[in-house]
Amino acid sequence: MDSVLSPATVKMMNIVSSLRAQGIDIISFSMGEPDFATPKHISEAAASALLSGFTHYTPSAGIPELLEAIAEKSKVENGIQCTPKDIVVTPAKLAIFASIISQINDGDEVIIPDPSWVSYEPIVRLAGGVPVLAKTTYEDEFRLKPETVAKLVTNKTNMLIINSPSNPTGAVMTKEDIKGIADIAKDHDLIVLSDELYEKIIYDGVEHLSIASLPGMFERTITVNGFSKGYAMTGWRIGWLIAPTQIMAEIKKIQEHTITCAASFVQKGAVAALKGPQEPVKAMVQRFNARRDLIVEGLNNIPGFKCLKPHGAFYVFPKFEFKMTSAEFAEFLLKEAHVAVTPGSSFGPAGEGHLRFSYATSRENIRKGLERIEKAVSKLR
Ligand SMILES: Cc1ncc(COP(=O)(O)O)c(C=O)c1O
Repeated sequence: MDSVLSPATVKMMNIVSSLRAQGIDIISFSMGEPDFATPKHISEAAASALLSGFTHYTPSAGIPELLEAIAEKSKVENGIQCTPKDIVVTPAKLAIFASIISQINDGDEVIIPDPSWVSYEPIVRLAGGVPVLAKTTYEDEFRLKPETVAKLVTNKTNMLIINSPSNPTGAVMTKEDIKGIADIAKDHDLIVLSDELYEKIIYDGVEHLSIASLPGMFERTITVNGFSKGYAMTGWRIGWLIAPTQIMAEIKKIQEHTITCAASFVQKGAVAALKGPQEPVKAMVQRFNARRDLIVEGLNNIPGFKCLKPHGAFYVFPKFEFKMTSAEFAEFLLKEAHVAVTPGSSFGPAGEGHLRFSYATSRENIRKGLERIEKAVSKLR
């Protein structure tokens, strides 16, 4: 466990809570969750299931109604030809954990984008695997390029992780890049873990492509998705994974020996999320879009910052030109400006020189936060 550290994102959330408890007015750009309420019809469905006594264990993989709804959504929206038996309902984080722990043996190499979500690398280490980082850069709009991945494949490579739209960069992979990566996976017999949690939060008419929908990919892909980000349901702890039969058999054992099943009434809420009106999701994405424009323009107007306009998620990942590490700069902003951001280095070495801003906060907070940052950094010049 010594090589595994607590996630920087969770640490930052705890620091912000404790400063706020001391009465300090912090503007936080560190939240990895939508600031909107879960749509009412979803909460009502779960509440009614709870009150009607739907409070016991369910089948380990999930209730049939939800498995069918996920299979239908995955076929229609994602082109993934799956059936309910290919699906397990579980929190997305546990889906990723179970996938890696069940597939990775000691010494297996796993290719991970750099920068990327804080937990891939620690989970690979917990499994006894060796994380191999595939660098992406600001100059390339944080594209995970097939050429970069191809150079990292060895005879020990077992798995490749992709995450589009990306946390922390907001980058959305192009169809060409996804196809190129699929070809590498097929040529070298690799498993692909595709984390599609931010699928619904996408802008500018860009389309999400699920790698499992490409020819020859279903049988080697674990697709992870969930309700947390798209339906503002982070606290519900529910998501799912889709995997082919032989991989699924191993993943199911982990589900059975850990949480047994996702919470029963929560699964009823999830059915309502998928089958009910999708307008609340669209409205949320529209508001994220306006905030993205505001924060990107605002950051680019502060000397010392350069910010891309990513096509997905609710994060921007600007680079900065102040002579500090990203951890030092985040601490400086917290102390001097009372603004919380996440250091880019928390997401991998290629994140150094960057900060992650989550714009899952009001436009008023975004404006106020940017003003505070501008004032604080003017002292550095
Ligand atoms: C890229 C990515 N994958 C997985 C997760 C875990 O999701 P959940 O909270 O739904 O388990 C997160 C949460 O922040 C994430 O950003």
